[in-house]
Amino acid sequence: MSQLIILGMQWGDEGKGKIVDLLTDFSDVVIRYQGGANAGHTLVVDGQKIVLHAIPSGILHSNVTCVIANGVVIDPELLIGELDNIESKNISVNSNNLKISYNAHIILPYHKLMDKYREEKASKKIGTTQKGIGPAYEDKAARRGIRFIDFIDKEKFDEMLLRNLEYYNFMFKNYFAKQELEYNKLVNDFDIYREKLKGFACDTVSFLYNETTKKRSMLFEGAQGTLLDIDCGTYPYVTSSNTTSGGAITGSSIGLRKDTSVLGIMKAYTTRVGEGPFPTELNNEIGLKIREEGFEYGSTTGRARRIGWLDMVALKYAIKVNGITSIALTKLDTLSILDEINICTNYIFNGEKTTNFINNNSILENITCEYQTYSGWKVPINNIRSFEDLPLNAKKYIETIETMLETPIDIISVGPDRKETILKNNPFI
Ligand code: IMP
Repeated sequence: MSQLIILGMQWGDEGKGKIVDLLTDFSDVVIRYQGGANAGHTLVVDGQKIVLHAIPSGILHSNVTCVIANGVVIDPELLIGELDNIESKNISVNSNNLKISYNAHIILPYHKLMDKYREEKASKKIGTTQKGIGPAYEDKAARRGIRFIDFIDKEKFDEMLLRNLEYYNFMFKNYFAKQELEYNKLVNDFDIYREKLKGFACDTVSFLYNETTKKRSMLFEGAQGTLLDIDCGTYPYVTSSNTTSGGAITGSSIGLRKDTSVLGIMKAYTTRVGEGPFPTELNNEIGLKIREEGFEYGSTTGRARRIGWLDMVALKYAIKVNGITSIALTKLDTLSILDEINICTNYIFNGEKTTNFINNNSILENITCEYQTYSGWKVPINNIRSFEDLPLNAKKYIETIETMLETPIDIISVGPDRKETILKNNPFI
């Protein structure tokens, strides 16, 4: 039995979905432990594109149980849409292959509106996905949140909704000068959602514990990335959950075990959506070229992603805060168009060189980056399936990253399809 935590090392969108999908072949259980529909995994399986937001991509595999654990915030309306979409591809979803934690919190329409109105009013915007993530986690911390177990109990839900709506409607009317939400409409909508979703409710703590006693392989599927973590990320330009490896433990209520590995996913360059510091950002033709070649547009919001060179200072920080044991390098094929590729090796702040990622925006916004330049390989690599067959300069680029990060690269992704992958080592121990 082993446990593998898969998480993003940058600002999200590292291509985790594909790697999770690939490694699900070695897993019995796949667990989503934080975030919500702000995430989006686009998977290409046999040429068919599937976008998943809350449901783990393990759902596409038979014999895998998917768990939406307590650390996730669930939007029932969007979840039902996602279930319908999966089922339209002839994949059956039932209480055997999808289990939702009693303790996961529910996103309500007032959370999404609060997220939207706040962003509209803010002079310094976060650039959220407006999926209600922040306000839902706020309610969780404020101890007025509605959990899945409360949602499936109609009487309790209706009562909690009435109490919470009083607060939100007060804010909408008096602070934002917006329309109030209608209680009866929400009650009716959630009656429908309850009927569709209640069968998935599960005591996932007992389920997961029993699975560990049966020595099942478990894969923990992270969403977003290290630098969006509420504690370790570029606060306040972060999401509202723990995207780092500790989040897998608290977000699934499973104890820390010694046979756990942490696979960090990093793109061969850097992207970011939303506001916030981005030291290696490329506001030029090269950035535009990479965006088009890598189709760097958000799978949840469609927003164009900001593009930058690889940042070793930030990546070393990701290794430290997550205890990363090995790496999957994604979208290497996107760089095949470039003559030269830069890697940021250190920052300069106040005239001093540093390789330490100081998580303070006023520093990150005022540093300059020092780069090393590498020659590109300028040939397509999508059909290559072994490290040895890669062009020399691509191998050099990979080996440089491994040396700088002092961490092995187990997997190299050379295209969006599941097949377009070089598996050097299986990170499941
Ligand atoms: P929120 O998670 O919607 O509150 O957004 C907070 C910040 O996290 C914004 O900068 C978003 O663009 C970013 N973010 C949230 N989810 C993702 C993701 O899945 N990929 C990349 N960025 C994300």
